[in-house]
Amino acid sequence: MDLIKDAISKLEIEIKPFVKDKIVHDISHLYRVMNLGLHIQEKEGGDRYVIAIASFLHDIHRVIKSDNIIYVPPKYSLPYISKIYEKNHLLKDKMEQILHCIEFHEEYNFTKQGNPVDDIETLIVQDADNLDAIGAVGIARVFSFWAYIERPIWLPNIPIKEKDFDESKIDPSTIHHFYSKLLKLKDNMNTKTAKKMALPRHKFMLKFLDEFFKEWRGEA
Ligand SMILES: [Fe+2]
Ligand SMILES: [Fe+2]
Repeated sequence: MDLIKDAISKLEIEIKPFVKDKIVHDISHLYRVMNLGLHIQEKEGGDRYVIAIASFLHDIHRVIKSDNIIYVPPKYSLPYISKIYEKNHLLKDKMEQILHCIEFHEEYNFTKQGNPVDDIETLIVQDADNLDAIGAVGIARVFSFWAYIERPIWLPNIPIKEKDFDESKIDPSTIHHFYSKLLKLKDNMNTKTAKKMALPRHKFMLKFLDEFFKEWRGEA
């Protein structure tokens, strides 16, 4: 049997109950990131097993405190991930590398500390996760998430200003978040393949914002 398929079907049973109430970091996000990761791997290389499993488990940190909306960094999910990994007898010699990918999947080169990793597997998981944050799917996800944290769509009286991105600090509105993070992701892609895939998604967001502001002002 395919080792990846076998591992994912076991892990899905394990994590489904935890992610079932999530909308943005749900099982479909995990599958999309995994499929994007495997697609990038075909062109860029790297360990397929590590990329698939790390992608599928990367956002457990988003659900470990589901009743608390405060951001929990990925490293806090590692004990739970190790536990389910060992319980399901997945490939022992790959575990450390998978945990590394998960711990560092949310590092960005536009932050003060920059991106501290350079292994191809983590770089691909980062790219796959960031591709799912932009484009049409990214727009759908960002508005869902900001509705969940009860923030407004747009506050035109608060200027959009360049600031250091910090995941734990919430922007005043969803539209502000496009400028603090989403529009920066295109230049944050690590691999050639992801850079290419990010371009149409980025353009689509710019088009969306242009239309949004015109409609907001009553000009369209
Ligand atoms: Fe994450
Ligand atoms: Fe994610």
